[in-house]
Amino acid sequence: MPELSFRAPGRVNLIGDHTDYNDGFVLPIAIDRECIVRTRPDGDTVRVRSRQGEGEVVLGADGSGDAGGGWGRYVAGVLRTLAERGRTAVGFEASISSTVPLGAGLSSSAALEVAFALAACAAAAFEVPPLELARACQAAERLATGVPCGIMDQLAAIAGRRDAALLIDCRSLAVDPASLPPSLAVLVVHSGLPRALADSAYAERRAACEAAAERLGLRALRDATAELVADDPRARHVVSENERVLAAADALRAGDVATVGRLMSESHASLRDDFEISTPELDLLVEALTGSGALGARLTGGGFGGCVVALAAEDNVGRVSADACERYRSATGLEPTAFRVRAVDGARPPGR
Ligand code: GLA
Repeated sequence: MPELSFRAPGRVNLIGDHTDYNDGFVLPIAIDRECIVRTRPDGDTVRVRSRQGEGEVVLGADGSGDAGGGWGRYVAGVLRTLAERGRTAVGFEASISSTVPLGAGLSSSAALEVAFALAACAAAAFEVPPLELARACQAAERLATGVPCGIMDQLAAIAGRRDAALLIDCRSLAVDPASLPPSLAVLVVHSGLPRALADSAYAERRAACEAAAERLGLRALRDATAELVADDPRARHVVSENERVLAAADALRAGDVATVGRLMSESHASLRDDFEISTPELDLLVEALTGSGALGARLTGGGFGGCVVALAAEDNVGRVSADACERYRSATGLEPTAFRVRAVDGARPPGR
């Protein structure tokens, strides 16, 4: 039997954090860092090996058994959520490799879930529409980690579009691509800080948002106005961030990259001051980037460490990156890692 291969990209969110679980808006890109799962048919069990030398996990074909404490949890989660949706328990053998940096806020786990879900579906000739696949992978992430995450990461890995950012309405799950001008470079810089406290703080922030919506008698903070949340910093972040996402998508479509950059920097300030999920190091890195000529910069993803994302002019990005890293290194003693990313297609084109 020939080996089959399935891929799914990581993502970086240009703007719109902690809005997805409030039924709000996000603007991520799927990036040219990906997870690849190769499979062969194999008996009754699912036997999965990491090509990066982190062992082997053997599970029942419905995800039962001991997944261990690492990446096996995601694999087990996917098998279980697909079984709930009717996938027949067909076994196979798989190997995983990934170029998405782990634990950096670039959704390495969503890339693994989506690539592995496609592999598991193919092995059992089980068809799942793209949106349902994203939901199954989101449920798998929750099972694996206990973190009540939103849908952005898994949907971006599936619906990614080459050379475009994805405006996602997290209530309707409509995905509306907005082209990235060729003159624009997207830069990701890892702060050298692992994401600490992120899981417990994520759940706490989400609960605060849901409590605010309930207090206001609304289905979700998506439905609140700036006036209604003026005295509540957490909710204020969500409402103002949704406005910034929509404005950024419009500006991107109009080719107004200066406005997109400004909105990104405003987003960082809101995540820092109102939502309080930044760290002094992430703040310094954002300042180093804008001080070095980036059009805008912000922390990206859940917060509390990991990466920041910046936009720069294509012909200036090398200098921005080198200068910002030097400033950050001398201010903090931490070693940043900078790399450019390009927007790529998702694991499957949307709508198929
Ligand atoms: C994590 C979650 C997403 C989203 C972001 C914050 O990446 O998985 O659903 O909530 O944090 O925007």
